Amino acid sequence: MTGSPKGRGIAGRPTNYGDPEFAAYLRRSFAKSQGYSDDALGRPIVGIAYTPSGFNNCHRHFPELLEAVKRGVLLAGALPVEFPTISLGEVFTSPTSLKFRNLMALDTEEMIRAQPMDAVVLMGGCDKTVPAQLMGAVSADIPAIQLVAGPMSTGRHRGERLGACTDCRRFWAKYRAGEIDAEEIGAVEGRLATTAGTCAVMGTASTMACLAETLGMSLPGCAAIPAVHADRLRMAEATGKRAVELIGTGLTPSKIVTPAAVRNALRMLLALSGSTNALLHLTAIARRAGIRIDLQEFNRLSEETPVLVDLKPVGPHYMEDLFHAGGIPAVLKELAPLLEREALTVSGRTMGELLDRPLADPVGRDVIRSRTEPVSPVGGLVTVFGSLAPGGAVVKRAAADPRLMEHEGRAVVFSSLADLAARIDDPALEVTADDVLVLQNAGPRSDSGMPEAGYLPIPKKLAQAGVKDMLRISDARMSGTAYGAIVLHVTPEAAVGGPLSLVRNGDRIRISVAARSLDLLVPPEELARRAAQAEAAADRRRRGYDWLYNSHVLQADEGADFDFCGKE
Ligand code: FES
Repeated sequence: MTGSPKGRGIAGRPTNYGDPEFAAYLRRSFAKSQGYSDDALGRPIVGIAYTPSGFNNCHRHFPELLEAVKRGVLLAGALPVEFPTISLGEVFTSPTSLKFRNLMALDTEEMIRAQPMDAVVLMGGCDKTVPAQLMGAVSADIPAIQLVAGPMSTGRHRGERLGACTDCRRFWAKYRAGEIDAEEIGAVEGRLATTAGTCAVMGTASTMACLAETLGMSLPGCAAIPAVHADRLRMAEATGKRAVELIGTGLTPSKIVTPAAVRNALRMLLALSGSTNALLHLTAIARRAGIRIDLQEFNRLSEETPVLVDLKPVGPHYMEDLFHAGGIPAVLKELAPLLEREALTVSGRTMGELLDRPLADPVGRDVIRSRTEPVSPVGGLVTVFGSLAPGGAVVKRAAADPRLMEHEGRAVVFSSLADLAARIDDPALEVTADDVLVLQNAGPRSDSGMPEAGYLPIPKKLAQAGVKDMLRISDARMSGTAYGAIVLHVTPEAAVGGPLSLVRNGDRIRISVAARSLDLLVPPEELARRAAQAEAAADRRRRGYDWLYNSHVLQADEGADFDFCGKE
């Protein structure tokens, strides 16, 4: 047998009956009811956190992928045992999948801890699943390795490539503006998401896959392989094999998710011009390892890190193009002078050792630019601070109209998502293209659970007049597939009485991304008067997970994790 002799296998983490020998005997007896031989039960065990679901289209190929992981585990001499955790299909989860990310993280952590496994393969993909699994694995801290679903392949519509979900938004905006009719938007509906796998652009799922690889929690090359490509199955097999090799090495997530690895991942996020959500998730993952991401330091990294990857929603390409251009190993190679080489990876090699390896193929320079000819000389994301966001807010500057990154305008305020839905298209809404759309009560503690609603639609009458972008500010999140002059994650949020809650129609707001500032131009004494008059929102009676979530969720600058889940 080639597996590590150090694994405890089926004898690990005994059930407590007050008689350890009986517990071991009973467990073996019940395991035998599953048809295992003594040989199988004598092996180390690799658990596989397995997350297919009828409510998760992105994971529909997981049965085939699971077989490949198991093949790898068996080839390396251990016993693979899959176990379910909850799954989070982004568009099937209400009010928003983020609300349940922490639940999935708890589920993953506790099921790793509770069951007899010597290492674990984390099979995830759709937006919140990878961060949830990494959060749980860092806290459980046994050898763990992430296998992602891989991106969807593109579809076609009238000769044009389509991929979820930047093109979903682009076509929806065209429909709202009256540029295409109901028949065409109906046809596009069936062509946006046509294969298994995660959204085809540099959305949150793709960004998190790339960050998992950069953090060192996936094998090199894992992130960008298309979901339906045979290489994805080979990667699954290699992941299973590697999980066995990890047993007994002491190379656990806490050795991999270090400050150096987190800074490398932040650099990657900036070089990808990745999803703003990823900053929230990486903050939560790092927090599980006792590492705090300083948003001021993030800005410093942003000034030094060029955007190198030209994918939608910033550029024209898709994840399958990134794969064919060389994937994350090629991006890392380009970023090498900025990376911290000593960071360990799950491969057993340091980041520096991986960077020293030659690439197998020439780099596709239309997709992965060189440092000397970047998409942008500075990072795609930046944080701003000021009287409207004392704890910070995030802006994806690479995806915005640059004119709106230095802007002052009049606030048009929506007090909730319901208010937004009721009035945004009202022909009587007093709004011009120079105004600033403000959405309140969409942060982590709000009843909406910090949805991806920060991409406020352009009011219909302005959209129909040709307005493509406006400054929009909220405590919500935005899909990684969206674009525009959007300020997100305003901290503290409105629901806990942050300054955002005090904005009124007609107030002036000024943003200067160059100065990293976001200010509400209202005298402090007037804000104090409004705060004194603010009535505490009547809290509704809560129970179950809704109570747990609302009682313990932290603000965006702490990753919206639970206050009781940090490193002890
Ligand atoms: Fe699953 Fe986009 S819906 S990644």
